[in-house]
Amino acid sequence: MNFVSIINKKKLGEELTREEITAFAEGAATGAVPDYQLAALLMAIRLKGMNARETTDLTLSMLRTGDVADLSAIPGVKVDKHSTGGVGDTTTLVLAPLVAACGVPVAKMSGRGLGHTGGTLDKLESIPGLTVSLTEERFIQQVKDIGLAVIGQTGSLAPADKSLYALRDVTATVDSLPLIASSIMSKKLASGADAIVLDVKTGSGAIMQTVEDSIGLAQAMVDIGRLAHRPVTAIVTGMDQPLGTHVGNALEVKDAIDVLAGRTRGDLLEVSLILGAKMLLLAGRTADENEACSLLEEAIASGAGLEKLRQMIRAQGGDERVVDDLSLLPGTPVRREVSAGCRGWCAAMDTTALGLAAQAMGAGRLRKEDPLDPGVGFILPVRIGDEVFPDTPLCTLFARTEAEADQAEQAIRAALTFAGAPVGRPPLWYAMVDGEGVKRS
Ligand code: URA
Repeated sequence: MNFVSIINKKKLGEELTREEITAFAEGAATGAVPDYQLAALLMAIRLKGMNARETTDLTLSMLRTGDVADLSAIPGVKVDKHSTGGVGDTTTLVLAPLVAACGVPVAKMSGRGLGHTGGTLDKLESIPGLTVSLTEERFIQQVKDIGLAVIGQTGSLAPADKSLYALRDVTATVDSLPLIASSIMSKKLASGADAIVLDVKTGSGAIMQTVEDSIGLAQAMVDIGRLAHRPVTAIVTGMDQPLGTHVGNALEVKDAIDVLAGRTRGDLLEVSLILGAKMLLLAGRTADENEACSLLEEAIASGAGLEKLRQMIRAQGGDERVVDDLSLLPGTPVRREVSAGCRGWCAAMDTTALGLAAQAMGAGRLRKEDPLDPGVGFILPVRIGDEVFPDTPLCTLFARTEAEADQAEQAIRAALTFAGAPVGRPPLWYAMVDGEGVKRS
């Protein structure tokens, strides 16, 4: 197939055939098409878009370039959950144990941090001894034994996405609806779940920063799910501020344990309940959303959710004592309390800048091979809408050096905007999208 003519067609805004799209996905997975031609087509897609049929064909072609996990040995309906990426966004560590404690098996393959966003695998690896690399056999056995496993990908799922994502990252083509939808859905379909809950973030820390674009992305992924015969529910949730108050790998594990232990409530818990309830509904555990939320809340009150997390940590070789003793998680040599230093109402946060501040402290990678520092990051208790005074605690920094703490303090202050008059709190969620349509909050 003449790849130049495929690029040219899309450059002119024409529709690509299934065969042309398959050549693109296979060429990316095998290396048969050089990066410069792949990059040219990515940019043409970024600028001219794809229709629903092309987006679905791209997703399915990318899916077919690799393995598909077979979870059929696990009894029950397996429901996966995926977030498009955020800051302090550690819902998996909260909801996976809660959903499993409610009797629905959670066999989850998660990812690592990407750019300013955190990744579940990096967070889990901050627990001493815990491994996220299990064979498919051990993964399935663990879910059969305790109902829960969260690991890195087994086998080679959607290898086309691996090449294309790396190219998109360096060719300014990440922010393309068909490319994001096909990237996420090819991996989700490959991970073998029967149904999928998507948390589509929107706002200053999200890949899609406007509500309408985020709803469009949610709709595209629900449509792909329908054509692939996999029920998908997408919820568009706010990322105008970090979801939890803790940002950084071990810090987010602490935040999740505090929530599971019933010691803290807040947006992280609320969004985890919304997503977890959808998982229980899709799994057929209950037909009623309120009942689903009550079941999840009961799993917190009874300690069953925390116990499930303990079992998972033990099964994956980690030090389960962290569940009762948070001081066993990695710390840092420098801890600094920072106060607001001004009077006003928190009006806005540049959440991407906050994620980048944590990344610069060592919580994320600048290059793929960079090591992480599991202990670094910050606690930011202030939320949009809060009134602050000069001596109100603004954040606590956990850094490797005083110089890195200085840099982070500066970046965090620059990311926050204070107003002279009261400001409303942003909604937790904006829309739910499923096979029946879009429901706005
Ligand atoms: N997450 C993905 O896996 N792919 C994208 O394109 C964006 C977010």
